[in-house]
Amino acid sequence: MTTAPDYSEKIPNNVQLREDRRLQRALESWQPNFLNWWESMGPTLPTHDVYLRTAVNVGREGWAHFGHVAMKDYRWGIFLAERDPGRQIGFGAHKGEPAWQKVPGEYRADLQRLIVIQGDTEPASVEQQRNLGATAPSLYDLRNLFQVNVEEGRHLWAMVYLLHAYFGREGREEAEELLHRNSGSLESPRILGAFNEETPDWLSFYMFTYFTDRDGKYQLGTLKESAFDPLSRTCEFMLKEEAHHMMVGTTGVDRVVERTAQVMVENDTDEVGALGAIPLPVIQKYLNFHYSVSLDLFGGETSTNVANYYTAGLKGRWLEGRRKDDHKLADDSIMVDAIDDAGDGRPAISQLEVSALVGLNTDLRREYIADCQGGVNRWNKILAAAGLPHRVKLPHIAFNRRVGAFAGIEASPDGALLSADEWAEQQGHWLPTDVDKTYVRSLMQPVHERGKIAAWIAPPRNGINGKPFDYDYVHLA
Ligand SMILES: [Fe+2]
Ligand SMILES: [Fe+2]
Repeated sequence: MTTAPDYSEKIPNNVQLREDRRLQRALESWQPNFLNWWESMGPTLPTHDVYLRTAVNVGREGWAHFGHVAMKDYRWGIFLAERDPGRQIGFGAHKGEPAWQKVPGEYRADLQRLIVIQGDTEPASVEQQRNLGATAPSLYDLRNLFQVNVEEGRHLWAMVYLLHAYFGREGREEAEELLHRNSGSLESPRILGAFNEETPDWLSFYMFTYFTDRDGKYQLGTLKESAFDPLSRTCEFMLKEEAHHMMVGTTGVDRVVERTAQVMVENDTDEVGALGAIPLPVIQKYLNFHYSVSLDLFGGETSTNVANYYTAGLKGRWLEGRRKDDHKLADDSIMVDAIDDAGDGRPAISQLEVSALVGLNTDLRREYIADCQGGVNRWNKILAAAGLPHRVKLPHIAFNRRVGAFAGIEASPDGALLSADEWAEQQGHWLPTDVDKTYVRSLMQPVHERGKIAAWIAPPRNGINGKPFDYDYVHLA
């Protein structure tokens, strides 16, 4: 095992922590609180060790270091992507100026808020997923769950580092609060809605890592553009890890669809419920749910706050550098979704032209939607390859929304407006019902035996880090 320069320290890092004693001490005093949180709110399944990837540096060699480790001894570290000394601000009023190495006083509150909101989602998902180990369909999947969990823990460290290093006492207080809020808690819930939903079964877990971690990818992508260079570099490195989380979601849903298709074909029936697979309509309902609550994470169609963040240089657009415009957007416009009057006093789904700056949430949500369609295409290819005419699809953007223009209306997955009564009557066709959830949960019998897999999911095509599927990824306690 090779040892990176700072790996022997209490907190592995590439930010020269040992040169800043005050910061080092602050983080060392936060560390036991983090470990307490991990013990009380992290994974509940007792394990001896897990085959995990640990980041020990950011270079090509360092960041994907594999080995069996006890999870409580996992080395959560602080890693920022390599600094580009010539980096310039890419957008907004400060475009072309050198990126900031310190937080400008006038943007302090806004930057702190952005970091806290991002930081809050990281431990939230660990909390949401804490009981899944008990019902894992294979040791391979169990290992992937724990990999996602330890990396979300590391992402919390990444945000806490920024709060401690750049935001003084207030930042340290916010870092404590990140451990005190809990997913689904009545007194102090997590900040964003989707992070208070439970992840009670593995179909939900795959949908969550496909749709909700993908929201994270887009949020990190906008923060990677930030004029505040330490935030930009932190997010750039987090995005590397995030790619694995989405792979878990994408291939997880692939494998559920594959197994369902197989059972449908073998038995020449759509009714696979009695045969131990997950019926396609149930998969579609889970997709509808996770997609619609993840769309809400992008906020309202218009936002003056986000316009101000952009102009200030705090938060850019997805792939800002590839956009062919002036990167200031003061004179541009965008069409955003809106609810209009159909003329007879009834609402209608329509579009509204607003300034491009105010419509930035819409811009980001559209990038996300296009990306989500990629998964749907994959899953439909699996159905087509099995010779089935069935297809899954993304529901209409107005379906099941609680944030933004469509929060006040109800719409079907095809985008037909519904009265409250029609919605109440029909929503069970489109969103998981208690019966659906109970059925899915009934399938969640643990398979913790090496090389074995549950009957409702196909095995993966590839193992982890070149290891076979039947590798001993996890040693249970
Ligand atoms: Fe994360
Ligand atoms: Fe993630």
